[in-house]
Amino acid sequence: MDWKIKKAGSGLKGEIVVPPDKSVSHRAVMFASIAAGSCRISNFLFAEDCMRTYEAFRSMGVDITRSGGFIEIKGQGMKALEQPAGELYMGNSGTSMRILSGILAGQDFPARMTGDGSLSRRPMRRVIEPLLSMGAVISSLDGGLPPISTGPRKAPLKAISYRTPVASAQVKSCVLAAGLYADGVTSVTEPFQSRDHTERMLEYFAADIERQGLTTSLKGLKELSPRDIEVPGDISSAAFFIVAALLADGSDVILRKVGLNSTRDGALRVLKRMGGRIEVLDVSGDVEPQGDIRVRSSSLKGTVIEAEEIPLLIDEVPVLAVAAAAAEGATEIRGISELKVKESDRVKSVVEDLTRLGAEISEEGDRLIIPGGSERFEPADLESFGDHRIAMSMAVAALISGGECVVRNTGCVETSYPAFLADLEKLRA
Ligand code: S3P
Repeated sequence: MDWKIKKAGSGLKGEIVVPPDKSVSHRAVMFASIAAGSCRISNFLFAEDCMRTYEAFRSMGVDITRSGGFIEIKGQGMKALEQPAGELYMGNSGTSMRILSGILAGQDFPARMTGDGSLSRRPMRRVIEPLLSMGAVISSLDGGLPPISTGPRKAPLKAISYRTPVASAQVKSCVLAAGLYADGVTSVTEPFQSRDHTERMLEYFAADIERQGLTTSLKGLKELSPRDIEVPGDISSAAFFIVAALLADGSDVILRKVGLNSTRDGALRVLKRMGGRIEVLDVSGDVEPQGDIRVRSSSLKGTVIEAEEIPLLIDEVPVLAVAAAAAEGATEIRGISELKVKESDRVKSVVEDLTRLGAEISEEGDRLIIPGGSERFEPADLESFGDHRIAMSMAVAALISGGECVVRNTGCVETSYPAFLADLEKLRA
């Protein structure tokens, strides 16, 4: 599927409710499935990635039903998962494969996880290595690529103290999930703070968990207490409309129920310091705060995004690059290496598409340099590279092109935001 996107004549106006958070939806299914009782999850994200996690737990015998706006999960405790009849297909979802590796490492049955073409190229050694040092039975293809085979577990998992070489919430969450099944205290220390949804949810489920600076420690072999969960809106999905409204002249948009966890809102802070008129209204919720965001078109200025900010806005870098290309003055984005191992090589994808749009951008060492100053992009034929966040970022760029752009291969938005185009049309009306 391709999109034809015309420039936004008189800006974006009105309001939308952004889709539920992908990261929190995955974790809600995973931890509710191994909790000791029933949990009701409201505002679950029914998009491809999260459905892979949902189906994986159903095929391990968990009773999960969908009724109205809720899903009901009848967790039977940490030991109650069953051997799946076939392979667990994870589609495009790195989060499913990496965090589930930690849960599967604790099971006494064998399992095999596969993925689509993109997931099959993504590095899994980062979860395999810590799990092997916990005594898990786990293997992958040569080079640490999927499929991943786990179990059956031969001995109880050993608790470890692990320093993650990269700030990755998926790796941290995988080790903590395995730590639930280990005898003793497992701790994970990361180089920079990454999103902390796992820590918040495990705390809420009454796990024995402690956080100190960049280290999280978890005592294993304790049942999780079931709790109902309300999934906030996804700030990563909101980011496309935040940038679109900032860039398209005459815009005034309200985004409802956006998750405002401080380990996810780096893009808001960056866009504000670039001069973005962004107001956060009505914050509520304690485990995962959420609120409404009002955005008005603004004149943006370039900035420097430091390496330690990257984990707090990792999925927003492509759309921030679009904002930077349109801003006045140069932007430098430091510490970009993790972007190369996402659903596509996002450094390459963004450099290629922004170049097609007539913007200047270059990769220099571990940095992206964007001189800025492209108030209007040239109409162009753009590629998603099979990556949902590239597809949506380029749709945003198209809004400030001098005419109409084509974005190719946009079916990938099903992974996180199936209604993206409909929401964009709604704000244009
Ligand atoms: C995610 C963490 C991030 C992010 C991904 C979702 C998560 O990946 O890019 O889209 O839900 O934990 P890393 O933690 O590997 O950087």
